Amino acid sequence: MSVGVAVLDDDHRKLIDMFNGLLKTGIAEKDRESLSGLLGGLNDYTKVHFAREEDLMERQGYPNLEQHRAAHRYFIDEVQKLCQDNDDSNEMMLRIDLILLLKEWLIEHIQNVDAQYTPFMADTAH
Ligand SMILES: [Fe+2]
Repeated sequence: MSVGVAVLDDDHRKLIDMFNGLLKTGIAEKDRESLSGLLGGLNDYTKVHFAREEDLMERQGYPNLEQHRAAHRYFIDEVQKLCQDNDDSNEMMLRIDLILLLKEWLIEHIQNVDAQYTPFMADTAH
């Protein structure tokens, strides 16, 4: 799974590692803290990555930038909503929602939406 830019591939790998970390946290009370930490980390790193990706798309004159930005914003909003609900929502529901969002959105986004900018990135230094 490569988008043709090493620094963005590294980001994607890191996000997927974070997702796998989430999958591995247990459901016991003691895991709640690590789940919050993982969520916070994922939230922060996603923003860093999206900013980097949008900046590169802009510099390369990618024509679908605004549409892509909107997709990023949607994802950030969804993760944020789940993070806010973390304190009072049912632990299993949070976990299921997160796994579905990450699996269906993040993985699908990288494979299908990010892949669309690959031809425009041909001349970046990477
Ligand atoms: Fe993207």
